[in-house]
Amino acid sequence: MTYTLAFDVYGTLINTHGIFSTLEKLIGEKAKSFTDTWRNKQLEYSFRRGLMNKYEGFSLCTKEALQFCCEMYKVNFTSAQKVALLEEYMVLPVFPDVVTGLKTLNASGHSLYAFSNGEAKAVSKLLTNAKVIDYFDGLVSAENIRTFKPNPSVYEHFNKKTNSSKSGSWLISSNPFDVIGAASYGMNTAWVQRSSDTVFDPWGIEPTVIIQEISDLNKYLATKA
Ligand code: 2OP
Repeated sequence: MTYTLAFDVYGTLINTHGIFSTLEKLIGEKAKSFTDTWRNKQLEYSFRRGLMNKYEGFSLCTKEALQFCCEMYKVNFTSAQKVALLEEYMVLPVFPDVVTGLKTLNASGHSLYAFSNGEAKAVSKLLTNAKVIDYFDGLVSAENIRTFKPNPSVYEHFNKKTNSSKSGSWLISSNPFDVIGAASYGMNTAWVQRSSDTVFDPWGIEPTVIIQEISDLNKYLATKA
């Protein structure tokens, strides 16, 4: 049996900590906390905008989260440095297991989609730059319905756009909020746990399967054929 696969992008395919080495050169030992706070605030801003029904694109959440971090960590980046950091965010690398994983799932006949809170233009640029865009049948962005995952309407939008069903589709994500959102909506879910230190939210909603790298999903789906 083949499935429609929805790949989360930031943090799942694309390593958002790829920006860490640039920050380390600029601010030294503050870089680790700065990167973590930047990512957490970016997500928080998207969730809050969704809850408030005041949608703005994910790239604005990223930009405003960067400004928050500059103030919190008392870092005086110039406007040019901030622009350069945000530009780097558009060309981040994929995790090392991604290319093999996408290749094997593609070869098994599954339909692969990028499925992101990020705007279509930004996601397309990222995946093109990382040379993985050709593995995908398409891209579904939450931008189309002006809210963010984990709102169930975003997962429903995915099923509608790709003409798939809840039981015939999988959400693949490293982000527990995304896995729990998709599972609660009714999709199959794979949580990508690349490090054993990563903690899953103890909400009593579990992923269908936990994988350490993307190609593990191909092995798992083969056992269901
Ligand atoms: C995404 O790409 C934000 O990781 C999230 O949808």
